[in-house]
Formats: sequence, C-alpha cells, structure tokens
Amino acid sequence: MSNHIRTKKLITISMMVLIAATLLVAGTASAQQAAMRDNLPAIDTSLYAAEPIPLRVDQCGQCHTRHFRDLKLSGGKHQFDCRECHEVFHAYNPQRNNYAEIMPLCATCHGQPHGDKHIECINCHENPHAPKRVPMTHRLEGICSDCHGPEATELQKFPSKHTEQACNSCHHSRHGYIPVCAECHEPHFATQAEATCMQCHPVHQPRTIALAADVDLKTCDACHSDVYATWDGTPSKHGEVGCAECHTEHGLIPACSNCHETPASHNKKLMAMFPKCLDCHLDVHDLPVK
Ligand code: HEC
Ligand code: HEC
Ligand code: HEC
Ligand code: HEC
Ligand code: HEC
Ligand code: HEC
Ligand code: HEC
Ligand code: HEC
Ligand code: HEC
Ligand code: HEC
Ligand code: HEC
Ligand code: HEC
Repeated sequence: MSNHIRTKKLITISMMVLIAATLLVAGTASAQQAAMRDNLPAIDTSLYAAEPIPLRVDQCGQCHTRHFRDLKLSGGKHQFDCRECHEVFHAYNPQRNNYAEIMPLCATCHGQPHGDKHIECINCHENPHAPKRVPMTHRLEGICSDCHGPEATELQKFPSKHTEQACNSCHHSRHGYIPVCAECHEPHFATQAEATCMQCHPVHQPRTIALAADVDLKTCDACHSDVYATWDGTPSKHGEVGCAECHTEHGLIPACSNCHETPASHNKKLMAMFPKCLDCHLDVHDLPVK
C-alpha cells in the first residue's frame, strides 16, 4: 500500500469518527427532551390512605377460573378460602425451582385416613380442588378390598358369576361409579323396571334371591310359563295367593302346614293312608274344587 493512499484513508476514518461523535451528543440531548411529558401525573395521596384489602376468593377466581370452578362444583369440604391451603402463593420462581416447596401439603391438615399403605395422596386425589373426584386408573385396580373389605368378602362368601368379575368391570369410568344392570343384562320381561332388579338380586350376591310377597309375578311367568298359566286359570282359592307368598325364597317348596291346619273334617284313617296332602289335592297350583 502506498503512503498516499494510507494518508487518505486515515483522513476518511477521522472524519467519520467526528460525525459520529456529533450525532451522539445531539441524540442524547433530544432523548432528554422527550422524557419531559407535558402532563406529568398529579400526586394523589388518598390513593395510599387505605391499607390494601386482601383479595376475595372470587377475585382469585377472576384469574384462576379453572380452580375456582373446580372448587365451586366439586370442592366439597375443601370449599374454604384458597389461602387456608396456599399460605404462600405467587412465589414460584423457576430459577429457584421452588414449586414443590410452595405448594400446600395434605399432611398440614390430614393424617392418613386410609392407613399407612396409601400415603401418596395426590396419586389418587389428583385434583385437590375437587378432592373426591378420584379417577378409575390402574392404580385403583386390585386394591379395592383394602378399603372395601365388606363388599369383597360378600362376593367371596356367596360365589356367583359376579364373583368372577373384576370390581372395576362394573365400577368402571370413575371411582364410585354405580352401573345399571341393563349395561350387561336384559330384563326378564319387557316392561320390568331396573329399580326392581336388586329387590331380588343383591348385586354382590345375586344368587341369594329373597322374594318379597308383592313381587311382580310376570317375572315368574318369564321362566315358569307353564305353572303360571295353570295358576292363572285356576278356579281355586290358591289363584288368589301370589307365587311368592308360598315360595318365599326362590326354589323353596312350602309345607301346607305353613298356612293350614289339617281340617277337622279330615278322617284320621284316610289321612294315614294318604300322608301327603297332594295325594288327594293333586295340584297345588290348580286345586280341584267343586
Ligand atoms: C385444600 C387445599 C387447597 C385449596 C382450598 C386451594 N388449593 Fe390450589 N392447590 C392445592 C394444592 C395441594 C396444589 C398443588 C397441586 C399439585 O401439586 O398438583 C394446588 C395448586 C394450585 C395452583 C397451581 C397448580 C395448577 O393447578 O395450576 C393454583 C394456581 C391454585 N392451586 C390456585 C388455587 C386457587 C385460586 C384457590 C382458591 C379459589 C385454591 N387453589 C384453593 C391446594 C389447595
Ligand atoms: C390478576 C390475576 C391473578 C389473581 C387475581 C390471582 N392470581 Fe394467582 N396467578 C396468576 C398468574 C398469572 C399466575 C402464574 C401462572 C399460573 O400459574 O397460572 C398465578 C399463579 C398462582 C399460583 C401458582 C404459582 C405460585 O407462584 O404460587 C397460585 C398458588 C396462585 N396463583 C394462587 C392465587 C390465589 C390464592 C389468589 C387469590 C388470593 C390468586 N392467585 C390471585 C394470576 C392471578
Ligand atoms: C388447610 C387444610 C387442608 C389441606 C392442606 C388439605 N385439606 Fe383436605 N380437607 C380439609 C378439611 C377441613 C376437610 C373436611 C374435614 C372433615 O370433614 O373431616 C377436608 C376434606 C378432604 C376430603 C374429603 C372431601 C369431602 O368433600 O368429603 C378429601 C378427599 C381431602 N380432604 C383430601 C385432601 C388432599 C388429598 C389434600 C392434599 C392434596 C388435602 N386434602 C389438603 C382441609 C385440608
Ligand atoms: C389409592 C388411592 C388413594 C390414596 C393414595 C389416598 N386416597 Fe383418600 N380416598 C381415595 C378414595 C377412592 C376415596 C373415596 C372418594 C369418594 O368418596 O368417592 C378417598 C377418600 C378420602 C377422604 C374422605 C374420607 C371419607 O371417608 O369420605 C379423605 C379425607 C382422604 N381420602 C384423604 C386422603 C389423604 C390425606 C391421603 C394421603 C395421606 C389419601 N387420601 C390417599 C383414594 C385414595
Ligand atoms: C384408599 C381407599 C379406597 C380405595 C383403594 C377404593 N375406594 Fe371406593 N371408596 C372409598 C371411600 C372412602 C368411599 C366413600 C365412603 C364410603 O362410602 O365408604 C368409597 C366409595 C366407593 C363407592 C360408593 C359410592 C357411592 O355412591 O356410595 C364405590 C362403588 C366404590 N368406592 C368402589 C370402589 C372400587 C370398585 C374400588 C377399586 C377399583 C375402590 N372403590 C377403591 C375408598 C376407597
Ligand atoms: C356385577 C357388577 C358389580 C361387581 C362385579 C361389583 N359391584 Fe360393587 N356395586 C354394584 C352395584 C350395582 C352397586 C349398587 C348397589 C346398591 O345400590 O345397593 C354396587 C355398590 C358398591 C359399593 C357401595 C356400597 C354398597 O355396598 O352399596 C361399593 C363400596 C362396592 N360396590 C364395591 C365393590 C367392590 C370392592 C367390588 C369387587 C370386590 C365390587 N363392588 C364388585 C355392582 C358391582
Ligand atoms: C358390567 C357387566 C355387569 C353388570 C353391570 C351386571 N352384571 Fe350381572 N352378570 C355379569 C356377567 C358377565 C355375568 C355372568 C353371565 C354369564 O355367565 O352368562 C352375570 C351374571 C348375573 C347373574 C347370574 C349369577 C349366577 O351366578 O348365575 C345375575 C342374577 C345377575 N348377573 C344379576 C345382575 C343384576 C341384578 C345387576 C344389576 C344390579 C347386574 N347383574 C349387573 C355382568 C354384569
Ligand atoms: C321377582 C324377583 C326377580 C326380579 C325382580 C328380577 N329377577 Fe333376575 N332372576 C330371578 C330368579 C328367580 C332367577 C333365576 C335364578 C336361578 O336360576 O336360580 C333370576 C335370574 C337372573 C339372571 C341369571 C340369568 C338367567 O336369565 O337365568 C339374570 C342375569 C337376572 N336374573 C337379571 C335380572 C335383572 C337385570 C333384573 C331387573 C331388570 C332382574 N333380574 C329382576 C328373580 C328376579
Ligand atoms: C330367569 C329364570 C327364572 C325366573 C325369573 C324364575 N325362576 Fe324359578 N327356577 C328357575 C330355574 C332354572 C329353576 C330350576 C333350577 C334350580 O333349582 O335352581 C327354578 C326353580 C324354581 C322352583 C323349584 C322347583 C323345584 O323343582 O324344586 C320354584 C318353586 C321356583 N323356581 C319358583 C319361582 C318363582 C315363584 C318365581 C318368581 C318369583 C321364579 N321361580 C322365577 C328359573 C327361574
Ligand atoms: C299356595 C302355595 C303356592 C302358590 C300360590 C304357588 N306355588 Fe308353586 N308350588 C307350591 C308347592 C307346595 C309346590 C310343590 C308341589 C309338589 O310337590 O308337587 C310348588 C311347586 C312349584 C314348582 C316346581 C314344580 C312344578 O310344578 O314345576 C314351580 C316351578 C312353582 N311351584 C312355581 C310357582 C309359580 C310360578 C307360582 C305363581 C304363578 C306358584 N308356584 C304359586 C306352592 C305354591
Ligand atoms: C302361603 C299359604 C298357603 C300355603 C303354603 C298353602 N295354602 Fe292352601 N290356601 C291358602 C289360602 C290363603 C287359601 C284360601 C283360604 C280361604 O279363603 O279360606 C287356601 C285354600 C286352600 C284350599 C281350599 C281351596 C278352595 O278353593 O276352596 C285347599 C284345599 C288348600 N288350600 C290346600 C292346600 C294344600 C294341600 C297345600 C300344600 C300343598 C296348601 N294349601 C298350601 C294358603 C296357603
Ligand atoms: C284322602 C284325601 C285327602 C287328603 C289326604 C287331604 N285332603 Fe284336604 N280335602 C279333601 C277333600 C275331599 C276336601 C273337600 C273338598 C271340597 O270340599 O271341595 C278337602 C278340603 C280341604 C280344605 C278346604 C276345606 C276345609 O275343610 O277347610 C283344606 C284347607 C284342606 N283340605 C287341606 C288339607 C291339608 C292341609 C291336607 C294335608 C295335611 C289335606 N287337606 C289332605 C281330601 C283330602
């Protein structure tokens, strides 16, 4: 590079620095001017006269709509002030990674209501703002009997096809769900009401069938149509006696003596020859009558 060119370049650089410096000074001056607003705020000490009123719960809810709604609809016994649990809030700092530290602990207020086997509360009570909404997850499967001994024992003690069903095949979807029989079964006759099923079939021991005296006899007709037809057409007074008044349990055969003394008119000798009442009276569902 020649000397001449080098000198020329130096001059150019010096000039640029000078221009830049001038511009910088001018810029700072105009920034100072812009900071001077025309209308500066007026001082109002009354704004600071009162102490701040703590937020009401519904005000927390203005921002935390989901939490408020959960508590409102499903909060149950947790429907008290947020701050009873959240003694510290708006204090989460990702840099300090203090989330767990500021969140409320169940143990502040609760012991171990289900014993020392089930102490990870939040595993099951996933949402403390809707504490009773426990989802039916694999977590609950197979441990029902820890908390529901009586039902599990009942199913074992009275073996039936329901004993072979997993609890959550019926109690599916969510904890506490109660199924209707119609999810899996047809009624015995078309108009049979769902509400009647459990009068005859206690669901955890469905084969224990106690028959109330006033059961709808169309049920019996569904499986014993021959007997039903005989009984329905009989001119004898047994036609006024309901099936379940005699058959108080399913399959039970009553003794005549449950309801009848041997009539005085009945000759002892004849009775000795025909020890069974039905030897003469033939068909209990259709007694021969004059
Ligand atoms: C019975 C105690 C209890 C009450 C009452 C309660 N919370 Fe919570 N809340 C908790 C617990 C425990 C957690 C931590 C949940 C977790 O770790 O998953 C939590 C978490 C939160 C979170 C952060 C986690 C998230 O779900 O976004 C917010 C926000 C929150 N609560 C707001 C509220 C508001 C607002 C109210 C009142 C309207 C309220 N809470 C009432 C116990 C409570
Ligand atoms: C003006 C809106 C607003 C109000 C009112 C408000 N919060 Fe919050 N809150 C937020 C925001 C934004 C966050 C951070 C984002 C998030 O977690 O949803 C937050 C986070 C939280 C958290 C979790 C994180 C933390 O730092 O604690 C809790 C708990 C909480 N709020 C409780 C409350 C309670 C209790 C009230 C009422 C006393 C309340 N908030 C009122 C906006 C609000
Ligand atoms: C600030 C205290 C407090 C905290 C923290 C708290 N609870 Fe509660 N909880 C209560 C009170 C009070 C009740 C009603 C007590 C009673 O009836 O025995 C209750 C009731 C419940 C119920 C029954 C709800 C109902 O409607 O019947 C469940 C479930 C429950 N709590 C679970 C939890 C779990 C899980 C946690 C932690 C995530 C927790 N609680 C944290 C105070 C608290
Ligand atoms: C394995 C799951 C599971 C765990 C873990 C668990 N719970 Fe529960 N808890 C339940 C179920 C299910 C219910 C019944 C909810 C309902 O009424 O539908 C319940 C009910 C409750 C009730 C109401 C009591 C009642 O008799 O109605 C309280 C209070 C409670 N739990 C607190 C806790 C606390 C505190 C912990 C932790 C120490 C905890 N739970 C751990 C499943 C669990
Ligand atoms: C950690 C304890 C716990 C476990 C595990 C548990 N439950 Fe419960 N369950 C409860 C409590 C507490 C209640 C409410 C009080 C009561 O009715 O006994 C309840 C109530 C119920 C109810 C009655 C709801 C109503 O409307 O009466 C059903 C049904 C039920 N549980 C089924 C189950 C089934 C099925 C399982 C297993 C998949 C299960 N539970 C596991 C504690 C538990
Ligand atoms: C074939 C379906 C079915 C099976 C299997 C079943 N349940 Fe039930 N369960 C029901 C029905 C229906 C009810 C409602 C009974 C009522 O209203 O009297 C019920 C009621 C309950 C209740 C509420 C309290 C009560 O007795 O009324 C509990 C708790 C319960 N079941 C637990 C269990 C457990 C635990 C198992 C497994 C060991 C189980 N159930 C198996 C259908 C079933
Ligand atoms: C989730 C399905 C389901 C529900 C809900 C259900 N059951 Fe069943 N039930 C079964 C199955 C499966 C069998 C066995 C059927 C078979 O082997 O043909 C059965 C068998 C029965 C039996 C015969 C029992 C035996 O050992 O012979 C009776 C009675 C019965 N159910 C009544 C009811 C009644 C009443 C209800 C309602 C309270 C009900 N069930 C609800 C699934 C269910
Ligand atoms: C008046 C009593 C009564 C009523 C009400 C009743 N059942 Fe039955 N159910 C019986 C008898 C009795 C049997 C036969 C049991 C046997 O074979 O040992 C039976 C059998 C069953 C069986 C076993 C399968 C079969 O068909 O043999 C199922 C399933 C059943 N009932 C479901 C229901 C349902 C669902 C309802 C309600 C819609 C219902 N029952 C109402 C008395 C009743
Ligand atoms: C779902 C079909 C079904 C229904 C409904 C039904 N039964 Fe039966 N019943 C049977 C079956 C199957 C037997 C034979 C198997 C047995 O002994 O359990 C039987 C047996 C009987 C027996 C005993 C028969 C003997 O030879 O010992 C009597 C009595 C009886 N049922 C009466 C009734 C009455 C009364 C009703 C109405 C409340 C009724 N049944 C409803 C299916 C049914
Ligand atoms: C007055 C009492 C009485 C009434 C009412 C009655 N039964 Fe019977 N039932 C008996 C007696 C007793 C026997 C046994 C008969 C025998 O040993 O031959 C019997 C037998 C049966 C048997 C088994 C033998 C057979 O004939 O198949 C069935 C099924 C039966 N009854 C169903 C019914 C039905 C269904 C009704 C209503 C429509 C009904 N019973 C009404 C007393 C009664
Ligand atoms: C649940 C009770 C009950 C049982 C069990 C019972 N009966 Fe009757 N029986 C009656 C009633 C009620 C009448 C009507 C009585 C009246 O109106 O005076 C009756 C009437 C009769 C009559 C008169 C019939 C008529 O139409 O005048 C004869 C005969 C009779 N029963 C025989 C028997 C025999 C035989 C048995 C056993 C196989 C038997 N009963 C079982 C309740 C029963
Ligand atoms: C040897 C045949 C015979 C035997 C056995 C018999 N009865 Fe009779 N019973 C009759 C005759 C015949 C009548 C009258 C029929 C009529 O008047 O229609 C009668 C009538 C009745 C009457 C209705 C009239 C009255 O007197 O109240 C009853 C009730 C009765 N018997 C019950 C029984 C009982 C219960 C037994 C079993 C302990 C029995 N009978 C055994 C033949 C017999």
